[in-house]
Amino acid sequence: MPSLGILSCYSVRRGNPLSQADLFRQYCEVGRRVGLDVFVFSPRDIDWHRRRIAGYVWEGGRWRQTPVPFPDLVMDRCRCLGTEEMRRTRVALRTLRRHGVRLLGVALPGKWPVYRRLVGTPAVRWLPETVLYTGWASVESLLARHGCVVIKPSVGTAGAGLLLIDRDGGRLRIRGRTMRNGVFYRLFSRARDAAVFLDRWTEGRRFVVQQGIDLLMEGGRVADVRAFVQKNASGAWELVAAGGRVGPRGSATSNLHGGGRGVPLAVLLEPLDAPVRARVRAELRELALTVARAVEAAFGPLFELGLDVGIDRAGRLWLLEVNSKPGRALFARIGDRAGARAVVENPIRYAARLCRR
Ligand SMILES: Nc1ncnc2c1ncn2[C@@H]1O[C@H](COP(=O)(O)OP(=O)(O)O)[C@@H](O)[C@H]1O
Ligand SMILES: [Mg+2]
Repeated sequence: MPSLGILSCYSVRRGNPLSQADLFRQYCEVGRRVGLDVFVFSPRDIDWHRRRIAGYVWEGGRWRQTPVPFPDLVMDRCRCLGTEEMRRTRVALRTLRRHGVRLLGVALPGKWPVYRRLVGTPAVRWLPETVLYTGWASVESLLARHGCVVIKPSVGTAGAGLLLIDRDGGRLRIRGRTMRNGVFYRLFSRARDAAVFLDRWTEGRRFVVQQGIDLLMEGGRVADVRAFVQKNASGAWELVAAGGRVGPRGSATSNLHGGGRGVPLAVLLEPLDAPVRARVRAELRELALTVARAVEAAFGPLFELGLDVGIDRAGRLWLLEVNSKPGRALFARIGDRAGARAVVENPIRYAARLCRR
């Protein structure tokens, strides 16, 4: 039987790579149904000399570690950004590829390189204007043009470190999220002080400055869309599930890991007129497929992406971020059982298809 190895980071706390145990168990169960052996491993479980892996398999209602040969395919599910385990995972992926193992997807670089590659593609029509942060001048020109800008880490997650800047009378208003994702608010009377603040904020990391989108609100809170686009069992891109995310009160970000909550897409679109709602839904699908194809053409083979899509009050769609290792908690939370199941099944069915060909 062909096999798929799920590469995950070693969790020191657990003493194994099963930090997303629930998802991994479902992957194994789907694998059994479609004729694919699925196991989970971390870089520490690889025996390079013997070309064997001490993989974790879900069998008879429990996890068991067992020696397996190198798999046909490997899926990278490591989510410990910026850690030593992450580095080990990257090395392991590279080495596995040299051993002839095929990788199911690639991890995307930061927001800035992704933006730069998408500008020259049909996805450009949904891109907010974005530049690299290079000091106050880079902020000022976008602020003058759009009235509102967002500054966010090129490599970041969960909305941490993001700042939303606009003018409040003569003053500059900054609503932000600390690196530890706390909500804060600052006012600056002088641009010079704001400039000093931003230079400190961005020190030592790469940030992008982006046109601020006047996002739809839900109960006075910012909201946006998470769209899950995947290759299905026949290898075609498909918009599989989409839902709304609503940030906590006073937050500039909607991320679930930053305290946001999920709402069905229909709830998010309620403020729009019915014909606009229908157009937005159709355009969301078009955006998802166009972006997936463009990202894949630029960065290499992919099987799924999580797109963060902003919808403004006029019903325009904006691509805020492309995630190559998207979380999928949203769909269960909003009661979309079919969507939650599909986002787990598609990658395994698609992997099985790749192995058969
Ligand atoms: N250009 C923007 N305009 C308005 N809000 C934004 C913008 N970019 C991001 N946000 C808000 O911040 C959240 C986090 O930004 P995102 O680009 O997805 O970075 P992260 O990697 O932290 O998830 C988004 O889901 C959205 O709620
Ligand atoms: Mg995001």
